[in-house]
Amino acid sequence: MFKRYSKPATKKPTVVKAPASPTAKKPAVGISVEKPKAVVPVQAPVQAPVAVPTKSAGETKDQKRKDRLMDVRMQMHKRLLETLNLAAIDKATESDLRREISAVTMDGLQEIGIVLNKTERDDLVQELVDEVTGLGPLEPLLRDDDIADILINGHKQIFIEKSGKLTLSDVRFADEKHLLRVIDKIVSAVGRRVDESNPYVDARLKDGSRFNAIVPPIAVDGALVSIRKFKKEKLSIDQLAAFGAFTEEMAAYLQAAVATRLNIIVSGGTGSGKTTTLNALSSFIANDERIATIEDTAELQLQQTHLARMESRPASVEGTGAVTQEDCLRNALRMRPDRIIVGETRGSEVLDMLQAMNTGHDGSMTTIHANNARDAIARLENMIAMTGVDLPISASRAQIASAVNLIVQVKRLQDGSRRMTSITEIVGMEGGIISMQEIFKYEVRGTGEGGKIIGDFTPTGMRSSYADRFKQWGYDLPASIYTKTAAQ
Ligand SMILES: Nc1ncnc2c1ncn2[C@@H]1O[C@H](COP(=O)(O)OP(=O)(O)OP(=O)(O)O)[C@@H](O)[C@H]1O
Ligand SMILES: [Mg+2]
Repeated sequence: MFKRYSKPATKKPTVVKAPASPTAKKPAVGISVEKPKAVVPVQAPVQAPVAVPTKSAGETKDQKRKDRLMDVRMQMHKRLLETLNLAAIDKATESDLRREISAVTMDGLQEIGIVLNKTERDDLVQELVDEVTGLGPLEPLLRDDDIADILINGHKQIFIEKSGKLTLSDVRFADEKHLLRVIDKIVSAVGRRVDESNPYVDARLKDGSRFNAIVPPIAVDGALVSIRKFKKEKLSIDQLAAFGAFTEEMAAYLQAAVATRLNIIVSGGTGSGKTTTLNALSSFIANDERIATIEDTAELQLQQTHLARMESRPASVEGTGAVTQEDCLRNALRMRPDRIIVGETRGSEVLDMLQAMNTGHDGSMTTIHANNARDAIARLENMIAMTGVDLPISASRAQIASAVNLIVQVKRLQDGSRRMTSITEIVGMEGGIISMQEIFKYEVRGTGEGGKIIGDFTPTGMRSSYADRFKQWGYDLPASIYTKTAAQ
């Protein structure tokens, strides 16, 4: 049942589930819209300036000890590679392996005459288990669910994003070779290669995390690695509203837009929350619809039952076997989906995507890298031009204007919070130009304590051009959600 606006007396954004039954498109009754608060509470994690560690004498000593332990670890690892039967590792149980590694380590430590306390010994054995069976120093970071991103700039610098804060971690690789070995382990597991002649690579880790690496000589100061951790629990519409990413009113509008099958583009910069928003929007799709998803790296986690998920594939080491998003999309059109979701439109798939939106797959969605709604249109035009299909600009524009209904702009603000800064409708063509009207926007009012951005979400005063459509489908949004109040 549609009840996005029912709020508890606590004034906290409601936790409202998407319609439970597929036949739930019922008219909304008794909607009461509360005026959005003047200042939206920022519960979203706030980006702190990057930590540049200054070293005290204690820290230097600590670092020296860490370096020494790292040295011991590398010696032990070498020893393990010589001693362990590597072929048997895959078959051994974790506890057998741990016991074996522990025994070899103890012997080794005794031989080189190093005394470690129990914690250090346990840590060392764990690190060696990680090294032998997993991705070495990255393992603890991958295990930590609070870490969202891991960014590596050469073997000595590993930044992590935790609770919205990007900080330099104390995890390191022993040397550049060690880092390259781990990169190689990741990419060879998915049948790819990275080296001087093939210096960058995209891959997916076993846990679903998105992985990109670029190695020297293209990466000047050592291999660069970016990992977007796979979140098992994706942020829901309610959580995003609670974080202050948008208001309940905007959520209700978006619910109507998705449920009534408008074609939507989520636009934003890198890491601005596009995929998260797309995933959250999909929760408004009824469970009886067949949805085809196409991604370069499968990140979306849709809750519906009737899903056809596809992931494109880069060319193999021999340069063969590539399956592009465009290939997947063409195939998807033969699979009778009700809606198509393309993780990110970035190239030649653009025309097929627009065509799909225009021809019976309304309610389709995608994301695009752009800074605002106008930019998003310009990006689409550029992508069409790059496909090599000789289409006059006016025809491209007409195609875009009739395919896309809504552009949702997301942004990562200077303070690290992520917000939906604009919701814009495409209303048609006027004199060769695509005409648009913004319905909601985020206005920055200033900066508060600790650089926190203070601003308001406000309706622009324009009534949705789809208001009648919403009403016909049973999503009768009150006119008041489009009007500015005195406080705004
Ligand atoms: N409103 C939000 N509040 C807090 N965290 C958020 C919000 N939106 C997204 N995130 C987090 O920010 C990170 C980046 O989000 P996401 O992957 O959706 O970005 P993206 O724009 O798709 O990035 P890319 O350009 O790399 O594909 C994720 O860890 C996600 O959980
Ligand atoms: Mg993304």
